[in-house]
Formats: sequence, C-alpha cells, structure tokens
Amino acid sequence: MADSITIRRPDDWHVHLRDGDVLKGVLPYTARQFARAIVMPNLSPPISTVAAGAAYRDRIMAALPAGMDFTPLMVAYLTDGIDPEELARGHAQGVFTAAKLYPAHATTGSAHGVTDVAHIRPALERMALIGMPLLVHGEVTDHDVDVFDREAVFIARILAPLVRDLPDLKVVFEHITTEEAVRFVLGCGPNVAATITPQHLHINRNAMLVGGIRPHAYCLPVAKREKHRLALRTAATSGNAKFFLGTDTAPHARHLKEAACGCAGIFNAPYALESYLQVFDEEGAIERFEAFASLNGPAFYGLPVNKATITLERSEVCVPEVLHANDTAIVPFHAGEVLTWRFAG
Ligand code: NCD
Ligand code: ZN
Ligand code: ZN
Repeated sequence: MADSITIRRPDDWHVHLRDGDVLKGVLPYTARQFARAIVMPNLSPPISTVAAGAAYRDRIMAALPAGMDFTPLMVAYLTDGIDPEELARGHAQGVFTAAKLYPAHATTGSAHGVTDVAHIRPALERMALIGMPLLVHGEVTDHDVDVFDREAVFIARILAPLVRDLPDLKVVFEHITTEEAVRFVLGCGPNVAATITPQHLHINRNAMLVGGIRPHAYCLPVAKREKHRLALRTAATSGNAKFFLGTDTAPHARHLKEAACGCAGIFNAPYALESYLQVFDEEGAIERFEAFASLNGPAFYGLPVNKATITLERSEVCVPEVLHANDTAIVPFHAGEVLTWRFAG
C-alpha cells in the first residue's frame, strides 16, 4: 500500500473565489493546492464584460499572498442579452477562458442568468466557432420539477438537444450529481466532459437530512441518493479523460448557512486534495488520481500540464470545525472529521 503519492500539480476547474474582503481570505486555500483555477463569474453584478473580467482578475492577483504561484482563468457570465462579439473579444484577448450558463434562478448568484437558451444561441454558435468552452450549471428551474430530478430533466430538455444541434461546441457539464449525467457524458463525443466535486463523491442526501437538518452539507445541485454517489465514484476513478477535478468550493459565512433559508454551497478548498484522494484510495484507484486531478482538465481545455509536482502522505488530518477567511467564519467540508491523507506541498 503506497504511503505517499507525488503527482503533477493539479488545477481546480470550478471555483468560487468571491470578491472583496472574503476573496483575500479564501484565495490562499485554493492557491496552496492548485496551480490554476477556473473562476466562476457569479458575482453581483455578474462578470459579463471583458472589462469586468480583467478587473476581477486584477483583484484576485492583488489578493494573492506574495510568493504563491497561482493563475486564475476567468469565465464570462452568459445573460439573455450577451453580445457574441464581447465574448469573442474576451477570448481572443486571453481574458475569458470559457463562458458559463446559469439557468436564471437555478443557484446562488444566478438572478441574471439565462431564461431560455434560445436567447444565447448566437453566442453559443460563436463559441463553437472559436473553440471557447461552455460551462453549464445543469438544472431546470421549473416549479413542477422536483429538486432531486432537476439535473436529469435538464439533460433531456436542454443539454441533449444543445449538444446535438452544436456538435462542435465544447461543453463542461459542471458538478454532476447523477448516474444520468455520467451516462450522458459517456455517450457524447470528446467535446463533452464533466467536473465532479468532492462532496458528491463522499455524501448522499442522507448527510443533509438524517438526525437533523445539516446546512453545511447543502449545495446545488443537491446531493442525490446513494446509487448516484456510487456512479460518480466509478466515473471519477475510472481514468476516463472526460471526468476531471472541479471542487465547486463555494464559501458562505457560517451565519448565512445556519439560517432559516440557508445558502447553497460547500467550502471544500482547504482539504480538497485530501478529500478526493481518500475516495481514490477507498476505490483502489490511487494510480488514476493524477489523470483526474492534473491531466484530464488541461487536455480538455487545450492547456499545458503543470511542470511542478505536489505530494500527499498517508497520515491522519483533523479538519477544524470552523475556519476564518479574513475575519469571516466559514465551516469547511468534513468539519470535525479525520481524513486519511495529508497534503505535504
Ligand atoms: C454555488 C455558489 O455558492 O456560488 N453554490 C453551490 O451550491 N454550488 C453556485 C453554483 O455553483 O451552483
Ligand atoms: Zn452551479
Ligand atoms: Zn459552482
């Protein structure tokens, strides 16, 4: 049994770094483990112009502690009225790596999202032409669709037709949570991939609802039943290049989660690699961890693999009950638990 593993430095292909004071507090947790990150644009107001993307990137770099090696990859937030020219310009200038589809009101910070994909059809056609990936929060918002079914219904109603109509469009189906999503991605060509979070590999919906309601296990898409968690574990540890690491680390202040209407989002950046590696270890797939964490993502995005390496060692790590991100108290994923691998840098 291996007691340590050294791999190419990983990237995180789905991160919420927020803005303002809390950005300074959460950024080091991601920059410590990952060389690059796809930075989600669901701020208020959303990042929908090249100028806004460049300014946000500057704020991230200004918040980065001296000596840390980290590159943020920026994403444009698609709105009903998005100008395809603006996207193409941002992509050509190296500001926007990709663009994100949030169905309006599907999740945190999606109020300015898309009300009907028909409205962004010209933007999507342009993206397919220039090779700019579309990142998707894949849930419908129809009130008559059960929250546990919203991902599967999104595939049938929105994503499958989209992929069929635009066969050249690169698509990342973000934070997948169901066996339907795994099956869909496997059935598509190499232009369609998916990110998988640590929480959806570790927990099913019982974690949220058994023995009391647990707001720190709540994120969107919501964790599903056990068979879905098992399908995700199989996909992530399979070595298939379509699946790669995207934590969806989504920090919210503790008091905003422990509330009558708690925010969706799990803060998993502080122990992200430890959390993922434990899954690969449990599945007997440690030798496939590097592909998932460090190789498949760059291959999909057409970016070079990182040169530096990192090491994790088999050793118990106690996750604190709460962390402080520049004075904001945030409860991390696995709070109070003992993990079995330690990030050694
Ligand atoms: C994310 C957030 O808080 O920004 N929340 C979440 O539950 N995942 C938004 C998102 O990725 O859907
Ligand atoms: Zn999302
Ligand atoms: Zn997210």
